Amino acid sequence: MPITTCIFDAYGTLFDVAAAARQAAGEPEFPHLQDSWAELANHWRLKQLQYTWLRAITNAHADFWDVTQDGLDWAMEAVGLSGDVALRQRLLDLYWELQAYPEVPAMLQELKDAGLKTAILSNGSPAMLDGAVQSAGLRGVLDDVLSVESVGIFKPDARVYDLVGQRFGCTRNEVLFVSSNGWDAAGASGYGFVTAWVNRAGEPVDRLPWNPAHIMADLTKIPDLAKG
Ligand code: LAC
Repeated sequence: MPITTCIFDAYGTLFDVAAAARQAAGEPEFPHLQDSWAELANHWRLKQLQYTWLRAITNAHADFWDVTQDGLDWAMEAVGLSGDVALRQRLLDLYWELQAYPEVPAMLQELKDAGLKTAILSNGSPAMLDGAVQSAGLRGVLDDVLSVESVGIFKPDARVYDLVGQRFGCTRNEVLFVSSNGWDAAGASGYGFVTAWVNRAGEPVDRLPWNPAHIMADLTKIPDLAKG
């Protein structure tokens, strides 16, 4: 079955989630972040994701902006920076305008030129996603931005992946689902999408019942894969 619809995870896949801490560490107000920004970014991301899974399985949904702030508060305390109100605010502001990875605009444009549908499917709240898409200038190369907020539960719950077929009227095996999160690519494989795991950090494959169909180091080969 040819691919008709290319669906992208947002944070970590199109947008560089480490960019907020990296950028703040280079600003004169936050010299104390220079040694710890990478550890802070790592803790922040892991806690943010853990909280999404825990909230999903305990039926205690809160939107991704709340979960992102909770993850940041844990991470700042872990690296000994929990009292720094100005840094907290700066990091949160930067999270609304995360940089896209450099290959993203041309890759999405190539998919559009080939007549494929393109969209984001993300845990992010609509307002967060709007901020990131806007600041990265991706509005014109995306057909839609789908947020879990319309079903009130996080990935990898199947109700989130259902949003793709509901929006585009496509079958599961017509969808190329692209994520940098191994667990998200695995969940989407189990759901029945064709999946590509973008493994920028060269991590091991997650030990889950499903595997990604394709593994790549960045997004440059996505158009060739989608066009078949
Ligand atoms: C997202 C998170 C999982 O964008 O990265 O859905």
